[in-house]
Amino acid sequence: MLSKIFLSSDHGGFELKEKVKDYFLKNCIDFEDLGCTSLEPVDYPDYAKILSKKLINVNKSKGIIFCGTGIGISMAANRFPHIRAALCTSVEMASKSRKHNDANVLALGGRILEDKLALEIVNEFLNTDFEAGRHSLRVDKI
Ligand code: RB5
Repeated sequence: MLSKIFLSSDHGGFELKEKVKDYFLKNCIDFEDLGCTSLEPVDYPDYAKILSKKLINVNKSKGIIFCGTGIGISMAANRFPHIRAALCTSVEMASKSRKHNDANVLALGGRILEDKLALEIVNEFLNTDFEAGRHSLRVDKI
């Protein structure tokens, strides 16, 4: 059972974050937005850090992080040992990131993805379980 979904972005991911928030509100999906709050330029490592700290404290929670490409913020988030952030540009990648890698954070590029595809990726990520088994050994080696 998923306890909470945390969202964070820099300015490059802000607009897509807002679209995901609208979708969550319409579908009664519980989330917490950790910023940023506008298109004013900010630094994506700061928002990766804010989200990563939340995931230590809230059991079984997941995160979705956004920047222009998804690259910078996923690099920054993956510096934290408890984070397995997956930068996904397809539904298939989102599916495998959960089934095989037990990703706890989804990274999306706000300047890369069409809204419809982004929402499909989000849905797949949130509704797919880790397959464990042989994948657990590999994840444990990360
Ligand atoms: C900000 O302009 C941009 O560099 C950032 O959002 C992201 O794409 C970095 O990886």
